Amino acid sequence: MKYFPLGNTGLYVSQLTLGAMTFDEPDGAFAQMIGGTGQELANRMVDLALDAGVNMIDTANVYSAGVSEVMVGKALGNRRKDVLIATKVYNTFGTGMNDLGTSRLAIMREVEASLKRLNTDWIDLYQVHNFDVTTPLEETLRALDDLVRQGKVRYIGLSNFAAWQIAKADGLARLLGTERFCSVQAYYSLVGRDLEQEIIPAAMDLGLGTLIWSPLAGGFLTGKYTRDHAGEGRRANFQFPPVNLEQGYNIIDVLNEIATAHEASVAQIALAWLLHKPGVTSVIVGARKESQLVDNLKSVEIELSADEMAKLDEVSAVPPQYPHWIPPAQRGETLLSRFSDR
Ligand SMILES: NC(=O)c1ccc[n+]([C@@H]2O[C@H](COP(=O)([O-])OP(=O)(O)OC[C@H]3O[C@@H](n4cnc5c(N)ncnc54)[C@H](OP(=O)(O)O)[C@@H]3O)[C@@H](O)[C@H]2O)c1
Repeated sequence: MKYFPLGNTGLYVSQLTLGAMTFDEPDGAFAQMIGGTGQELANRMVDLALDAGVNMIDTANVYSAGVSEVMVGKALGNRRKDVLIATKVYNTFGTGMNDLGTSRLAIMREVEASLKRLNTDWIDLYQVHNFDVTTPLEETLRALDDLVRQGKVRYIGLSNFAAWQIAKADGLARLLGTERFCSVQAYYSLVGRDLEQEIIPAAMDLGLGTLIWSPLAGGFLTGKYTRDHAGEGRRANFQFPPVNLEQGYNIIDVLNEIATAHEASVAQIALAWLLHKPGVTSVIVGARKESQLVDNLKSVEIELSADEMAKLDEVSAVPPQYPHWIPPAQRGETLLSRFSDR
């Protein structure tokens, strides 16, 4: 397991993070669709991940209506101080006017609830789950800054922001002198490469770390779904995250070929591809079963050749969006490479 600094911070995170979205009671609110591990399996998964060198667990206030945070806290027990906990704020299950979002009121209420559920005095990485279009960003930044000064939160991150929102948040925090976001949590997989065009370059330019969610596109990139076998019980027919099934099956074909050559699983190769990509700090692995986690943790051992990366890049390529289809030379990139050669 390798460890990388989370953006421009002194905090080192493992290249794999354990995702706790599947942690729920077997008959819990989202068990049918996403998880339902129960506490015992959650404990074993945490043990397996920590034994493999994982040093961060990602959850959210809304996962399994709070049960995921409770299970993470219980599974860690007295190892809490040795493990980084990343959780999130924005969504709630409340339906009141002031329940959703990242107003000062919501943040102060939700952080106390998360601390209690996690059974801890501090959160290592507190992430804004979505961009709040109605709350002034100044209000969100000042509330998060207060939490850092109070010692309830160590670092702050964001998730699911567009590149312009990331840049705005970073610029504003610098202007206000408040705590800056140190990480971007975003969706990235072989069937979802949109963020390569704007979000990854923005994060790299601003010095933010990148945490990758749903790296297997909710299970699609494991090889268990084929052209002939659409699979039963799969998550919402891959509408979240959305999968272009035609291109997706072509990607699975190449993954199968490379997996056979490495005597590895399709999931391991799909994760390894992400681990080889520039700008990726940590990939958040999710699992519903112990065997899946064991499989996924081995992805760090896989070295993909330049040729294998090129094959995967080619079959998974997405058309560039404007202005990225303007030839690189006209966008000044030739000049830029001349400059960086010196
Ligand atoms: N910030 C956000 O908005 C956001 C959104 C989503 C997730 N996340 C974070 O990202 C983490 C990972 O997301 P995810 O669970 O969607 O990840 P994922 O890796 O895309 O999907 C994980 C699912 O794929 C299947 N699977 C995993 N490994 C497998 C293997 N080796 N063989 C066969 N099937 C396998 C399992 O589902 P089945 O058994 O049901 O097929 C598992 O629950 C979450 O826990 C959460 O922390 C964040």
